[in-house]
Amino acid sequence: MPVDVTVCTTCKYGPTAAFDAAGRTGGEILAEALEAAAGNRRAVLRISRHECLWACRNSCAVLIQAAGKTGYLAGRFEAGAAAAAAIAAWAEAYAQSADGAVPYPMWPEAIKGHFIARIPASGEAAS
Ligand code: FES
Repeated sequence: MPVDVTVCTTCKYGPTAAFDAAGRTGGEILAEALEAAAGNRRAVLRISRHECLWACRNSCAVLIQAAGKTGYLAGRFEAGAAAAAAIAAWAEAYAQSADGAVPYPMWPEAIKGHFIARIPASGEAAS
């Protein structure tokens, strides 16, 4: 089942700068790195871009979700290949999970401490 990884393109580049020297936001850099990290797994990891996920204090932010599974909002990533590799690896494990729960031993080190919110699957009954 494909996983949608939505990257906020308007997240700032760093704590004091919205853009890098080339005029790119941190979110744009992370999106590009994630597209590269997804590589030939693009049928499973569908990377998309979206302006502002309302997690601005936790930039760079990404939303990981799939039909019928709990979704996850994660952030506080530095824009670049290391974060992208960790997000892609976790999302691939998420793709293989039945309900969106990825066993903690499978978590890449670089994703630990970055989750912000757990989002119930659409249509899940409230309890
Ligand atoms: S600017 Fe990225 S979450 Fe708002």
